[in-house]
Amino acid sequence: MSLLDEVARLEEEVLERIGQADSLGSLEELKVQYLGRKGPVMSLLKSLKDLPLEERKRTGARANQMRAQLEECFSAAMGRLSTSRRLSAFDPTLPGTAQTVGTIHIINQVMGQICRTFYGMGFEIARGPDVETDYYNFEALNFPPDHPARDMQDTFFVEGGRLLRTHTTPVQARELERRKPPIKIIAPGKTFRHEEISTRAHVSFHQVDGFLIDEGVTMADLKGALVAFCRNFFGEDLKLKFRPSFFPFTEPSAEVDISCFLCGGKGCQLCKYSGWLEILGCGMIHPAVLEAAGHDSEKYTGYAFGLGVERVAMLKYKINDIRLFFNNNVRFLRQFN
Ligand code: DAH
Repeated sequence: MSLLDEVARLEEEVLERIGQADSLGSLEELKVQYLGRKGPVMSLLKSLKDLPLEERKRTGARANQMRAQLEECFSAAMGRLSTSRRLSAFDPTLPGTAQTVGTIHIINQVMGQICRTFYGMGFEIARGPDVETDYYNFEALNFPPDHPARDMQDTFFVEGGRLLRTHTTPVQARELERRKPPIKIIAPGKTFRHEEISTRAHVSFHQVDGFLIDEGVTMADLKGALVAFCRNFFGEDLKLKFRPSFFPFTEPSAEVDISCFLCGGKGCQLCKYSGWLEILGCGMIHPAVLEAAGHDSEKYTGYAFGLGVERVAMLKYKINDIRLFFNNNVRFLRQFN
């Protein structure tokens, strides 16, 4: 057999064995065996030197071409086997990895619902700072420095004589100062009080205040707006009770109770066995509040109200413990997705 025939035979043999190899390891072994320093390809190349010049040139070219081709085939086969190994570990029928998506906290959802309802009734949305001055939280709202009504507010004081607002009513004082009537505003936000934490009370909670100031505004307008809101928000069957009350910034003042959602009025832990739940305070804006902001209280009158978001959320979703809103228990929060 001539060396040229030997090249062709060797090439065929190696290609066949590459085709049979079923693992990267066996391919590597095969490559060393055939293309290594002591392998048949090398010894074939070495024996070229014994050939006459013309034959050496032809056979040499063919032998080098064979070696290059075999190198290439080894690489291609190795590439194929490593991809198929990766593919065999991938099972497209398995369920994918679930992505957890964040949601809006139930308190923000309810605050949004309240704001949308009033927005639909023509109220604008305004906001104020969480850290307030004594002036806007108390004084502009007709609480003089030594007024006993300040005891109703268990205040957290912070550095610089400031405080964490105890209600969202200071937004009313701020907006009254920078606007001219008619003013029709809703003010949602965070509020803070130094309270004993219980099923009904927390140190940090949320309120929405609302107020309307114009010529000729009466208590009947207030009642109309609140009845419309409660019916819209809780349903037509709900009973409302207006109870006389006191706030320094309203005169007259009232508190609105709605019939207990959880027990339907029979009495339960949530309503402290009274059958009623207090949801908001309201009244006609005190003339002193209007005058403090520079408005003529003979010309303008206004109503105001403030409601607790947690309380309203508890009623709507039959939640019996306010602390659930703040525990970050995902199993509780997920119910409102
Ligand atoms: N600010 C009161 C509170 O903290 C709630 C309130 C009562 C707001 C009467 C008002 C209002 O605007 O007119 O409980």
